[in-house]
Amino acid sequence: MTADRSSPKHRIVLFIFATVAVALALYFYISLMGQRLEPGRPHSNLLNIPVLTLAALLGYLGVRALNAALFDLAFRLRRGYEAPTLVRNIFTLVAFTILFVIVFKYLYADVNLGALFTTSAIFGVIIGLALQDTLGNFFAGISLHADRPFQVGDVIVVGQQKLTGVVVGITWRAIKLRNFQNHILLVSNSVAARESIEVCSRNELNARYVFFGTLYTDSPAKTIHVVREAVRDADNVSERITPIVRIRNLGDFSIEWEIKYWLDDYAKYNDTDALVRQRVWYALRRSGLTFAFPTRTIHVERKAPLRAATAAEGITDRLAAVDIFAPLSPEEIQQLATAAVGHVFAPGETLIRAGDKGSSMFVVHNGRVQVQITENGRQRPVAVLSEGDFFGEMGLFTGEPRTANVIALDETEVLEIGHEAMRRLFETNPSLAESISWTIAERRADLAASSREVSQASIEESAGLLASIKRFFGLR
Ligand code: CMP
Repeated sequence: MTADRSSPKHRIVLFIFATVAVALALYFYISLMGQRLEPGRPHSNLLNIPVLTLAALLGYLGVRALNAALFDLAFRLRRGYEAPTLVRNIFTLVAFTILFVIVFKYLYADVNLGALFTTSAIFGVIIGLALQDTLGNFFAGISLHADRPFQVGDVIVVGQQKLTGVVVGITWRAIKLRNFQNHILLVSNSVAARESIEVCSRNELNARYVFFGTLYTDSPAKTIHVVREAVRDADNVSERITPIVRIRNLGDFSIEWEIKYWLDDYAKYNDTDALVRQRVWYALRRSGLTFAFPTRTIHVERKAPLRAATAAEGITDRLAAVDIFAPLSPEEIQQLATAAVGHVFAPGETLIRAGDKGSSMFVVHNGRVQVQITENGRQRPVAVLSEGDFFGEMGLFTGEPRTANVIALDETEVLEIGHEAMRRLFETNPSLAESISWTIAERRADLAASSREVSQASIEESAGLLASIKRFFGLR
């Protein structure tokens, strides 16, 4: 096996070897030439050239060693990250120039270096023109460093071309990016200074969007829950901020969704996007939700509304389990189920608003609702009703305005029963009106107690209620 020629150990040995060789060469040359090198002596100008060359070489090696000590060790220890290449290069250039001038001055005391440069206008023009681009890049690089808009390791997107990659370094000429195909992109500093740069700092959480679509028949509340849970524990999805799942559009063929999630390591966003999409696919499949694809729904109208057998059965069972409907026969329950109309409400939606006029009551089929009253301008919960409970009976049976607000707590499906359906039942079941009047009286008492009014006469009230229900429904 051969040793790696560019390994740090190998390079240090080579460096020491070169330094010792140059120092020895300089030493021997000076001792050989001896007296003849004294400045001002004849021929000494020419003889000094090798001294100047060797001294410059030695100076260069010294500057390299200083550069490594300063930036590789000190900078990394103090600041915790590697010094930018441009800073190192500027340091090397300045230190080397100073050393060179000192040695030159010593060897050629009578030559005026300043005058040599300032008087040579043509030389200046030539250098200026030749280095126009290079100097432009150099100064743009310096201003980028002064600004510090990004660091090595950040992902940046440059200009309208949207050149994207992880910053691997900034040299005196260009920003070096590694794109996601592992190619190196060089964006010259002067171009970068002109263009807009989007910086996704690796020290902060950066977000991504992933899109998908579901069928209109799928429940939004369920989709949000299922997708959020599936995405939040995917690899590289930050635990610090819970992903957001929201509807971005009601499209032609689908409910269009976006997932906004934050990444621990933004540089891996391609893999993480893909993983998030995969999680969404499995989660939707497990929960019986469906991805949308271009579809056209054709509605065929039938004379009598037809309900799926299982759904109708579910409704019948639900109504049969409601305590006030206990006296009804199976046929009457069946009639009620046919007359009942189902509605779905999202969490937070208002089903009943206090003060409105109401002509129907509701049975909670799925989910939960909260009954609230307004007190000093604030909402105060009075009761939470869940599957099998009913509400809205007070407005329906007394003809008075709604007594409270009813708000959905979860996604909630209710069965609405209208005035006419109840009237038919009252005719055949007089006891029904009685049990309902009891519930109403109890709830009224509750309302009065929670609004801190004194209530004593719920029982007497129920008798009065019964009479008014009968009157309202035209019963004897
Ligand atoms: P209604 O007045 O038509 O509209 C608001 C409904 O909230 C009311 O009918 C009752 O069904 C319900 N409600 C009012 N007070 C209570 C309570 N204390 N407990 C349960 N439900 C109530």
